[in-house]
Amino acid sequence: MTLHEIHVTVNDEPEQVAVPANMTLMRMLREKLALTGTKNGCSAGECGACTVLLNGEPVNSCMVLAVECDGARIVTVEGLAGEDRLAPVQETILRAGGVQCGFCTPGILISAHALLERNPTPSDDEIREALVGNLCRCTGYLPILESVREAARMQSAAG
Ligand code: FES
Ligand code: FES
Repeated sequence: MTLHEIHVTVNDEPEQVAVPANMTLMRMLREKLALTGTKNGCSAGECGACTVLLNGEPVNSCMVLAVECDGARIVTVEGLAGEDRLAPVQETILRAGGVQCGFCTPGILISAHALLERNPTPSDDEIREALVGNLCRCTGYLPILESVREAARMQSAAG
């Protein structure tokens, strides 16, 4: 099978990866770069478990071909935490009980992080809208909603 060399920046690290034309970004992250935080829930663009940031925008990585990402900046859940501390929404989702089986969590964290980057003081409706593509079978969503609210409060208190 012909492989195509692409160059991407993943979590601030430059990477050169050889991928077949039909490999999705999700599979490239998991299989070529061992970034297994990005989950394969449905492979059909329905569940949001595979959400990553592609050039700053949340996307379902199962619906994007890796070859389309040549030159792109990608952030996965592994790239959210700083050197010595979690991102605010990572801390608050743990405290609020928003992680049960955890399968949806990486995608939810990426979508929530993207929301807080573009809108530091979201309303509840804006939080719900930002997370509409991220399905969770366990939590009933309320702890997740609360964790994003609390992360917004933490971030605005930190200035
Ligand atoms: Fe991509 Fe479900 S695995 S949306
Ligand atoms: Fe299990 Fe969300 S915590 S699917």
